[in-house]
Amino acid sequence: MVGSHAAEFYALRGDEVTVFDSLMRSRLFGYDKRSVEHNWDYLSRFKNIKRISGDIRNNLDLDEAVSGDLDVIIHTASQPSVGFSIANPADDYLINAFGTFNVLEHMRRICKHATFIYCSTNKVYGEHVSDLPLVEKDKRYSFRDTGAIDENVKIDSAPHTPYGVSKYVGDIYTQEYGHIYGIKTGVFRMSCTYGTRQFGFADQGWLNHFIIANVMQRPVTIYGDGKQVRDVLYVGDLIRAFDMFIKADLKNSVFNIGGGPDHTVSLLESIEMIEARTGLETKICFDKWRPSDQKVYISDISKAKNALGWSPTVGLDDGLGMVLDWVKKNKVFFE
Ligand SMILES: NC(=O)c1ccc[n+]([C@@H]2O[C@H](COP(=O)([O-])OP(=O)(O)OC[C@H]3O[C@@H](n4cnc5c(N)ncnc54)[C@H](O)[C@@H]3O)[C@@H](O)[C@H]2O)c1
Repeated sequence: MVGSHAAEFYALRGDEVTVFDSLMRSRLFGYDKRSVEHNWDYLSRFKNIKRISGDIRNNLDLDEAVSGDLDVIIHTASQPSVGFSIANPADDYLINAFGTFNVLEHMRRICKHATFIYCSTNKVYGEHVSDLPLVEKDKRYSFRDTGAIDENVKIDSAPHTPYGVSKYVGDIYTQEYGHIYGIKTGVFRMSCTYGTRQFGFADQGWLNHFIIANVMQRPVTIYGDGKQVRDVLYVGDLIRAFDMFIKADLKNSVFNIGGGPDHTVSLLESIEMIEARTGLETKICFDKWRPSDQKVYISDISKAKNALGWSPTVGLDDGLGMVLDWVKKNKVFFE
């Protein structure tokens, strides 16, 4: 989803864009045969987008996509699911850790002058975030003493899940290629990003999953008590942050990026917001907590605000509205 929006953003601006994707998402998760293919087809409307179907683990495929005239690589290709990583740690490692290394290596050899953006995750902080004292309220948890999580949280000596580890390997390799080879690198440790063209399901893209389930009148399972809180960011705001970093006079940088303290919601609250908009009830089942599921994660986005002059512009109500319109117009994909 993020790659699709980034491609559209630059295509609309008139840039020449190459999109590289193995179209693996549907195969990896097997829940929907048309998700990533829909986004792939969507981009065919732009004459200035070249689409290359290939795998980041494959050198011949990358040779076709990485050329000396690239100005920017926005690396969004990934297996993005914690659950998948626990069930398939080898695939998770090869796609997220080795795949990222492979893209960086191609870049080092072919277009070192370009800017590299890496989509990292709050999961790199693992359960250190869960050590912070919380307050339990009616429909949400809150941090007791902290407003939000900045980039200085300790990373090692805590459980992470294989996904948290494989993404951190990509994160730290990205930083290292900045330090040792002088590549301009931006690591964005993303919280929950949502938006149109995100085929959310139980294990990835929970907010869109809840919207789709409500519209299609399918039950959702909440793992834990539903009071988990996340800061949510509309995908367009994420792409603006990437673009501001690309234009900024900065070198290696690591940013926590999300909606920040002003855009937080618990699972239970989000379901209520969706129900209020559609007038339809969501059928909820509860199941046990998932491994390393942080009860509260809220990004401290001050660093991105100060360094890039960036702030989120799309509130949750407007973002939900855009996704709802998209789901209603595209019900055929969710039947
Ligand atoms: N969406 C979120 O809330 C969120 C949160 C934290 C981090 N992230 C990170 O952001 C990035 C983008 O996430 P997304 O939500 O757009 O996920 P997505 O699944 O929609 O997009 C990932 C794309 O990578 C492709 N892909 C998978 N394996 C590949 C391979 N070996 N070679 C080439 N392409 C491959 C998939 O087909 C898919 O189109 C990922 O790195 C993810 O870990 C996302």
